[in-house]
Amino acid sequence: MDAFTESTFGELNAEDYDDLHDPGTTEDTVALISEVAGDGRILELAIGTGRVALPLARRGHSVTGIEGSPLMVEKLREKPGSERISVKVGDFADVAVDGRFDHVFLVYNTLFNLQSQADQLRCFRNVAARLNDGGTFLVEAFVPDFSAFTDGQRVSTRYLDRGSVFLEAVVHDPVCQLLEFQRIRITEAGTRLVPLRLRYAWPSEIDLMARLAGLTLDARWGGWHREPFDAGSSMHVSLYRKPQPAAG
Ligand SMILES: C[S@@+](CC[C@H](N)C(=O)[O-])C[C@H]1O[C@@H](n2cnc3c(N)ncnc32)[C@H](O)[C@@H]1O
Repeated sequence: MDAFTESTFGELNAEDYDDLHDPGTTEDTVALISEVAGDGRILELAIGTGRVALPLARRGHSVTGIEGSPLMVEKLREKPGSERISVKVGDFADVAVDGRFDHVFLVYNTLFNLQSQADQLRCFRNVAARLNDGGTFLVEAFVPDFSAFTDGQRVSTRYLDRGSVFLEAVVHDPVCQLLEFQRIRITEAGTRLVPLRLRYAWPSEIDLMARLAGLTLDARWGGWHREPFDAGSSMHVSLYRKPQPAAG
């Protein structure tokens, strides 16, 4: 499959992102981030069409975003309230924005859109450089689960009605920790293929990347209501902190 750059996701998904990518947790995500951030300056990496950033801005938070896809930003700009949010177009691994922030967040498994460990680590290091002392970095990601895979692959039905079926085929490369997706949308009008490549990481590897960047794990929850994280958790919300410098 061709290379995935910072704009690929948007080129493939911007048009119907809001219709097809509702995780059903947006209100809870906004509530927790709002509580954690208090009145600090917030930066969202991969802000997309503003699913989380817009409600945060409506609550009065100061929100800045980075986004790789101009097409996703166009969708964001069509929405009321988006004028309150400043967005820089670029690769979020670079975190190339001016100023410093008290709270940075990266939700909806988007860390895994960075295609290598090196890029993910670079992201952590650049976030740490942009955080004020005592500031936090919140990451939401799935816990990899291969129980439904056979011979390194799985096919599942995501949606089906009388006139259409949306299938998802996934191939797993355990060496590079890559999941290669093809989302196949078959309707009476024809077939559409929407590829996606994710480089997954286990929570322990994400913690190590944070540690290498000088961040410490403050809390890890198994859901947006601060559910305990345990062996049955399918996702995690992890809160890292940039330590205050030692006194004296
Ligand atoms: C799953 S969407 C999440 C969007 C938004 N944060 C949300 O929760 O709805 C992933 C987003 O990451 C953006 N993206 C993917 N790789 C990127 C990169 N390397 N740099 C900047 N943005 C990237 C995509 O364009 C898309 O907007």
